[in-house]
Amino acid sequence: MHSYRLPWSVVPSRYEIRIEPDLPSGNFTGAETVEVTLQEPVSEIVLNAAELQIHQVTIQDDRGGVLPGTATLDEKTERARLRFPQTLRQGAWRLSLTFSGILDGKLRGFYRSKVKPLRSQVLAEAIAAVGDREEETLVAVTQFEATDARRAFPCWDEPAFKAVFQVTLVIPVGLTAISNTSVVGEGLVPGTRKKEIRFAPTIKMSTYLVAFIVGRLEATEAMSVNGTPVRIWCVPGKTHLAKFAQEVAVFSLRFFQDYYEIPYPGDKLDLIAIPDFAFGAMENLGAITFRETALLVDERAATHTELVRVADVVAHEIAHMWFGDLVTMAWWNGLWLNEAFATFMEMVAVDAWKPAWERWATFGVSRAAALEVDGLASSRAVEFDVVAPKDAEAMFDVLTYEKGGAVLRMLEQYLGPTVFRDGVQRYLADHQFATAETSDLWRALGEASNLPIPAIMEGWIFRPGYPIVTVRSDDQGRTLRFSQRRFTYLDGAADASHLWQIPINFRVRVNGEIRSMRLLLSSTEERMALPGQIDWIVVNEGGHGFYRVCYAADLLEKLVEAPFDILSPIERFNLVNDVWASTLAGLSPLGEYLELTARFRGETDRNVWTALLASFAYLNCIIPPSHRPLLEALVRDRLGPAVSRLGWAPLASESELVRQLRGELLLAMGTLGDDAAVQAGARDLYASYRHDPSAADPDVVAALIAVLAHSGGEAEYAQFLEKFRMAQTPQEEKRYLHSLAGFRDQGLLQRTLDLTINGEVRTQDAPYLVRSLLMSVAGREQAWRFLKQNWERMERQYPQGGLRRMCEGITGLATPALEADVRGFFSSKSISLGGKTLEQYLEQLRIAVALQERESAALATYLARFE
Ligand code: BES
Ligand code: ZN
Repeated sequence: MHSYRLPWSVVPSRYEIRIEPDLPSGNFTGAETVEVTLQEPVSEIVLNAAELQIHQVTIQDDRGGVLPGTATLDEKTERARLRFPQTLRQGAWRLSLTFSGILDGKLRGFYRSKVKPLRSQVLAEAIAAVGDREEETLVAVTQFEATDARRAFPCWDEPAFKAVFQVTLVIPVGLTAISNTSVVGEGLVPGTRKKEIRFAPTIKMSTYLVAFIVGRLEATEAMSVNGTPVRIWCVPGKTHLAKFAQEVAVFSLRFFQDYYEIPYPGDKLDLIAIPDFAFGAMENLGAITFRETALLVDERAATHTELVRVADVVAHEIAHMWFGDLVTMAWWNGLWLNEAFATFMEMVAVDAWKPAWERWATFGVSRAAALEVDGLASSRAVEFDVVAPKDAEAMFDVLTYEKGGAVLRMLEQYLGPTVFRDGVQRYLADHQFATAETSDLWRALGEASNLPIPAIMEGWIFRPGYPIVTVRSDDQGRTLRFSQRRFTYLDGAADASHLWQIPINFRVRVNGEIRSMRLLLSSTEERMALPGQIDWIVVNEGGHGFYRVCYAADLLEKLVEAPFDILSPIERFNLVNDVWASTLAGLSPLGEYLELTARFRGETDRNVWTALLASFAYLNCIIPPSHRPLLEALVRDRLGPAVSRLGWAPLASESELVRQLRGELLLAMGTLGDDAAVQAGARDLYASYRHDPSAADPDVVAALIAVLAHSGGEAEYAQFLEKFRMAQTPQEEKRYLHSLAGFRDQGLLQRTLDLTINGEVRTQDAPYLVRSLLMSVAGREQAWRFLKQNWERMERQYPQGGLRRMCEGITGLATPALEADVRGFFSSKSISLGGKTLEQYLEQLRIAVALQERESAALATYLARFE
């Protein structure tokens, strides 16, 4: 199993790398000299390389003698073996290699991205600015995490082999080059139309953080944070969309220096928007790369969700400059030390930047997404064994990010923010320029808090799953009984009897007096005496705990009778979400859940609505077509009052959050509720908006597009396709693109499917479009057939991570027949999506079909009232 891992007999400390890309031909050549230390005498050196050709190998010791070597590549383990004619003595050597490789088509390693010509009016001048030579419409860019630096230069491509990198890029005179550090030298290469750009040496860091970007690029003016220049880069003609991101970046950089009390580890900070990008963004030290939707935005035309996305991603990546770049996990099993912390710190920073966004409340939605996957028997522990590169990539999931982040938030709330921050500062200071393990974090937090952190945290990080806490009252309401067991939707979890140490915050009303209390529940059951008789209790006060709550019937009754008086929005969110989860798990009947939703007609919180709408959408997926009109009637019944209250236009005094809610309710009413009045209203308002963009609020515009797709036909399709092609902003492009998956006509949906593989839709977006189609009631069977027919082609074209996310769409194929077909397909092709990904999708599908099998009669009975 360790054939993937490199031996520690040879350790690199410094790379000098020179790379010369040829953009039009899609190739590059390179040369590197690596300073290495031989820990023992060896006659061969093993390092990583993939899809590279190694031409010359020499090695030199400090006395100047040069030995030639030969290279052989093993494509399967992605390693190169360098052999030398004699044994090399222990000590310092300089290894020199020349090599060549390809600019990859799968958005990994060193790859090419194509700049789409701008066709819109506003940006017309930029068309002229973009030259017509092919090399000027291409950008060459790197994406190395997790294990693709080895596709750009031979290297020790494991996070623990930290080294200094000194990069030189040789590029055409008309282009720009960016790398991790500032430019320290630039000169023409005699006899060519090329120039050589030399960058300052980096700090000691992991290979996956090295970056180079070459192309026609434009930057904003730099803004300085304690002397560090911060710039946003993009392809020509888009810098007017960079202001918002630059503001967040400047705020976050300053914020983190204060929070961590450690200076920023780079010498400049560039944030670069790349037209084709596999992920959301990548935290290369000093040269963070983004997909365009995550960086470039028009503040006046964007929805609240779109703005939060940009702020989140920018803050997240800048948080990584410390968590990840300065201190790095020793191996991919500890990825959560990077990603959960960046997720947590992203919330802290965005919350400090815009308190009115109530970012931590919305984090409840992310926590719920983690509870969903972690409730599977096929879940995994946050820290999890990784052997092959594919398994490393599968670690970038909701368990690492959202569960990890939620568990950190729970711990922060338990220790108190000051103590927690103190522990974090110690951890970073102790391991800077080096790597760390989870036990190092425990040690630092333990020193800061004087608490047994490993004992408290073990169950949350090293075990899959989480508990459901049941609360009952005894002795005529004078005693509370708390008990715990693992929550799963289906039976079959291995260690169902495991116990967690659960920090429980709760609020009770006793003798008319409300008090907040806490308890660390570490046994199966604990009792607690109250000073009087209980009126009601809210468990998981503030909603920070990573567990579910099950109230005894009498206690639940009190809460649902007066949810708006007793519960805060996040507590209402958790209540809805937990009751829904119990329904999916078969612990409580669907009818009860549907009754509960009736109490929320007056709800004003957007997150609570998110939970309600998600459950309606889920039911829409499992309901037989003949009953769908009744479900639509239920949706109209639940949403109606809120939709009328909010209307179509925001009040001047309204918060961004209310605007967001209006958009989401209109969207759901016009699609899930299939409401004719909202659809007609959307047609009228969209017509006005086409002539006057200020006629509708951005949050409403996004809803109009989705509603019109749902209710529209050929004419709307043609119009939206054109809007996608001519979009003025990345967000607008994305909205119109995704609307193409929301039509219901089979012919139109077939056209959308064709776009996903014919080159018109970028491969960074196509998998997500297929996923939407797989999850849509109108498109799923057709999309599934299409996926089966085109699987090999998709595998070839799409980036690896995209393929994995596309397959999440199978969870929407919720009929017994489709489920059987899905299982047959994946097993006949022996498809693995890395880690436990596929198993989890199949289990989610099983849960949906099981709900249908168990509850369809009850659902029909309940819905009969809407006939
Ligand atoms: N380090 C990741 C990028 C990444 C993701 C590399 C998957 C390799 C595989 C980056 O910091 C990240 O987490 N990006 C997120 C966005 C973030 C705001 C959650 C992403 O790309 O989705
Ligand atoms: Zn990250």
